[in-house]
Amino acid sequence: MNGKFITFEGGEGTGKSTQLRLLADFLRTKGINVVETKEPGGTQTGQELRRILVTGDKDKFDATAEALLYFADRHIHMTQKVWPEMEKGNWVLSDRFADSTVAYQYFGYNKRVSREDLDSLYKIAVGNFKPDLTIILDINPEIGLARSFNKAATMDVKELRFEGRELAFHQRMRQGFLEIAQQEPQRCVVLNADKSIEVLHNDIVKIITERFEL
Ligand SMILES: Nc1ncnc2c1ncn2[C@@H]1O[C@H](COP(=O)(O)OP(=O)(O)OP(=O)(O)O)[C@@H](O)[C@H]1O
Ligand SMILES: [Mg+2]
Repeated sequence: MNGKFITFEGGEGTGKSTQLRLLADFLRTKGINVVETKEPGGTQTGQELRRILVTGDKDKFDATAEALLYFADRHIHMTQKVWPEMEKGNWVLSDRFADSTVAYQYFGYNKRVSREDLDSLYKIAVGNFKPDLTIILDINPEIGLARSFNKAATMDVKELRFEGRELAFHQRMRQGFLEIAQQEPQRCVVLNADKSIEVLHNDIVKIITERFEL
């Protein structure tokens, strides 16, 4: 495949969506065709799964059901959007991907899904494919959650199902993302997200220009 697949990961309110948009704009100034997408909900069917996953009561189903739904969304996303766009040579930027499933459904919960089961689901849904680069935005969850709640106050549909979990859940998840980055240091870059939007954007541009020799 000619295109690249870059994923943004991290907890709530770390700035993933903001930084993804800014990176997309930057890459376009370099003449690259960029597709901005997200999980869950990168496709039309995925939008329906997203509503089920991120709205409503936090305990309406457990981590196992979540993992299955996330990987269903992911398989649809890869086959109907990410891979076809990459075949055309486009760069695909995704707001969350499989590391979020590991961080939330494995590291986050006390009643977790095993790592082996998540790896098996990955194989079924995605195969051996991996992102070219994963940018993990890291921040104290208290700051991130405050940003998310502020943002949600201005939105009609409240996507706060996970924000409703206890602080310890978000702290475990944060550690989870850091462990993932340690396990795959070539693929993952961790950035301190407790900076201004502009400074963080410049950090990301530096990494991208070096990594992809732009
Ligand atoms: N570096 C920053 N400093 C201060 N505020 C920020 C920063 N980055 C983003 N924000 C603000 O914080 C809120 C959350 O940012 P954003 O939506 O980009 O985060 P996110 O990681 O995508 O969150 P979510 O997990 O809820 O989707 C937004 O209102 C955004 O404007
Ligand atoms: Mg977001």
